[in-house]
Amino acid sequence: MKDRITIAIDGPAASGKSTVGEYVAKKLDYLFFDTGIMYRAVTLAVIRKSIKPEAESEVSKLAESIQIDILPPSCPDGRKADVLIDGDDVTWEVRSKEVEANVSLVSTYKGVRDAMTGQQRRIGSRGDVVMVGRDIGTVVFPDADLKVYLEASAEVRARRRYEELLERGINSDFQEILSSTKRRDEIDKNREIAPLKPADDAVIIKTDDLTIEGVVEAILSLVSKIGLIVDGR
Ligand code: DC
Repeated sequence: MKDRITIAIDGPAASGKSTVGEYVAKKLDYLFFDTGIMYRAVTLAVIRKSIKPEAESEVSKLAESIQIDILPPSCPDGRKADVLIDGDDVTWEVRSKEVEANVSLVSTYKGVRDAMTGQQRRIGSRGDVVMVGRDIGTVVFPDADLKVYLEASAEVRARRRYEELLERGINSDFQEILSSTKRRDEIDKNREIAPLKPADDAVIIKTDDLTIEGVVEAILSLVSKIGLIVDGR
């Protein structure tokens, strides 16, 4: 039995990676690490400094100069973690529409990806981690012990995002969310560096008709197959 495990969960926007990853991590008592937050934090820093998201070299320079921290939640307002940029709490701001509209472009840049990938490897190499993102199984940890790729139609994912916003009291336009989801898929899948795709040895789980619990169950049974005991299985 291995004693240090890395689990990679990749998939498109709103495929349920974060919710599922968090449950799996809790069950195994592992660190949960949502790498999308780092790209969102860089994008927020770009907006705050009034840098144009199209200005690749300026954006990359900024990504290399800021310190992003992901810490256990400090208050019970529904957050999964505290997100800090240079010590400043930006947990909810990284979820804003403006960030969402620009994050896919910002994360196509080599300088940004190199800076974030380095930080992710440093944190993840301690092991016993569930890492979620777009390129964890293909680029960040190609040797991960278990690679899962979550898939769902754009319509189902947009509906989930719409309902998630509604739960936080934010009324939004479903069609707008749907077209933004499709636009992000397009950029994430077609970028030159580390495009979104399943690793050759990833297990693909289609989540359209599955509940969160169903997906978590499926992943936990894969975990038990690689030698970890979960709930006596
Ligand atoms: O999972 P998310 O929606 O929070 O991710 C936000 C963006 O970050 C997504 O559009 C692409 C980018 N991203 C990435 O390029 N690589 C990762 N490992 C995680 C996210």
